[in-house]
Order: sequence, then C-alpha cells, then structure tokens
Amino acid sequence: MPLSDTNLRNFNFDDNPETASTLPAFTYYDRDWFELEKRQIFRHSWRCVGHVGSIPGGGDYLTDSIVDQPVFVLRCHDGSIRAFHNACRHRAHLLLTEARGSLRSKLITCPYHAWAYDSSGQLRAAPHCESIRGFDKSEIHLEELKVEIIMGFIFVNLDPAADDLGPQIAPGVERLTRLLPDLESYQLAEEVVFDIAGNWKNVGDNLLECYHCQPAHKAFVDLVDMESYKVEVTGLWSWQGGICRTHNSAYDLPGGLAAGDREFATFYIWPDVAFVLFPGSRAIASFVFGATAPESTHQVFSVYSPDGELDAVGRDIFRYFSDVLGPEDVDLVENVQKGLHSMSYQRGRFFVDPARSYFSEHAVHHLHGLVFRHLRAFIPPAAPAEEINR
Ligand code: FES
Ligand SMILES: [Fe+2]
Repeated sequence: MPLSDTNLRNFNFDDNPETASTLPAFTYYDRDWFELEKRQIFRHSWRCVGHVGSIPGGGDYLTDSIVDQPVFVLRCHDGSIRAFHNACRHRAHLLLTEARGSLRSKLITCPYHAWAYDSSGQLRAAPHCESIRGFDKSEIHLEELKVEIIMGFIFVNLDPAADDLGPQIAPGVERLTRLLPDLESYQLAEEVVFDIAGNWKNVGDNLLECYHCQPAHKAFVDLVDMESYKVEVTGLWSWQGGICRTHNSAYDLPGGLAAGDREFATFYIWPDVAFVLFPGSRAIASFVFGATAPESTHQVFSVYSPDGELDAVGRDIFRYFSDVLGPEDVDLVENVQKGLHSMSYQRGRFFVDPARSYFSEHAVHHLHGLVFRHLRAFIPPAAPAEEINR
C-alpha cells in the first residue's frame, strides 16, 4: 500500500539515540501511515486487555478493540481463559457490547438474530436455519485469538503466528514481581479513562521521558528523587524510575519505608501498555494507550490492589494521577499534536545525554526505533536527497 503522494517521504532512522532525529511529524497524523501501523504493528503485537481478577467466574468476559478490531476474552466454566474476535459469523453484529459482564447462559448469544456459540466458539444454535440449503452449524466457529497471562494480566494477539510475549519481556516481569509478588491475585480498584486528541506515539513519547517533569510536573519532581531516576531500554520493553521522598508536594508516603518500597517505576511493554508502581502502597496501575485513529487515543488507567480496595495512600496516589498528573500530560500531548501540524516542523532531536540521566529521552528513541523497524519495508525509497533524514 503506497503512502499518499502528499506525504511521500524517504527517511532513515538512526539507531544511535545521541545523533538520531525523531520520527517525522507526518507519521503522527497521516492516514496512510496510520493504516500501515494498524496492519504492521497492531495486528501482530500483544495488547493488555485487563486482569484475570476482573473475570473470576465461568461466563465472565471483557471486551476491547485493537484499533478497529473488536475482541473479547471469556472465562470458561472449566476455568480457562479464551479470546475471540467479537463479531457474529452471521452478519457481524458485535456478540458482546459491554466493556465487562457475565453471560446469562452458557452460550454467547448474538443480540441481533440470536445465533449462539459455546465457549469454544462453536456455533450451537441458529434460529430457523435448519431449512437453509447447505447450511451446516458444525462448520461455523468464531475465530480464536492467542492469549497469554503474565503477572495476572491478560494479553491477546490478533496474529495466530505471533511469538510468545513472556520470554521477550521476562527480565522486566521478574523485576516487577520481585517488588509485587502477588500480582496474579490482584483486583481492579479504580479506573480513569482519557480520550486524547493525539496520536498513540505522542502519548507513548510523553510517557517514556521525564525531561518534561521539571517544567510540567512540579509535584512529581518533588515526589521522586530525580538523582536516583534511571531509564533503561532493551528489546520490546523499557524500565524507568527512582526512589520517592517520604514527604513531598504530591502525596506523603508512610514513614519508615525501605528504599525498595519507595520505588516509583514505569515498566513499558511494546507497543501500548505500561505498568506504573504506586510507591507507598501495594497498588499498581496499567496504563493502556490504545490507538483509535491517527489523531486519537483511548487511554485507560486502571489501578489494581491486593483486595480491590485502595488504602489511604493508594487513594491519594490515584487522585494525584487522575486529577493532576493525568490531565497535565493530556494537555501536553494535545498541544504537541497541534504543533506537529506546523509547516515549520518536520523532525526534532532527542535530548539524550551520555550519562542517560533522568531527563534523557532514549526510551522515546527506543519506541521510534521499534515503529521504524515495523514499517521500514513500506517507506518509499525514491525521494529528493534533501528529504533524506530530515
Ligand atoms: S448478526 Fe448475529 S445473529 Fe445475526
Ligand atoms: Fe508527564
């Protein structure tokens, strides 16, 4: 699929973050580019759709959309978890329309004409279809998706041939489960959703650097000792964080906590999820920034705790994220999105220092590199020399 003429660009991407330029601005709003991302990234990558604690009983389900692909995840009565495309095989009505729920019977019944499927995806009932010539229920199934459960979080993939995610992020998972060993039994406590007028990479860029923390998040730089803040990138994931001060202007931590219990960290997993620690509390948040269109992102910040309740510190942190930090970041991202359309702007530079200090943007470069690698085969080669690497 060619990129539209107006946005035809040949560009390289430098693997060295210290000398690289960012992805070109048009990749943040161009429809054809987004179509490529949809096909080359989101149809082959793992999406975190929720946590097993949200579907504890047989018949409980979650739904999601991976860009334009509706999916659902079902807890079967044998305890297993399966995922399917959320589209009826008759005339494609969504089978499950709520974000979360529980089936009223053992069958998944389409609300449109009541075709009904069992938990293996097999069609079991299709009213009045007995007399249809050549119609054989046994030949009709829902298409199943790959599912992986990691730390209790449910990941699905639209690509039946996708590599397993677990081995690709194992060191990060090990690090997180050392800090919170009981994640598998956690429960959803709070959730806040932001629909953002910005490209998903723009949201990711903002998440993955703390260069903006000093000017934009005054309370955050008082919360975390920035001298201890480190950003590490590798493979499909990155890890950044530092040690929190007990007394600060964001929220106070309980006294007497060891440094390990005061660690703030963001564990990012390609392409669109990060897990955010809540230092001073046993809670954790998943931060999913799902692309819905070239310039819109559905950001879901879900907080989990051991018993589905937040203690006083957890509530303070959630309020800080939902009422202060979250809106501050949405504002930044939406203003960047507007600026990306400026005729004056084509590409920027990463601020990456040799010490990889807290304000270094090498995790943003890491995200851009992954995007470039997934799409490089589609970037047209012939362009005027002055366009190259601009
Ligand atoms: S579309 Fe589902 S039964 Fe008709
Ligand atoms: Fe921020």
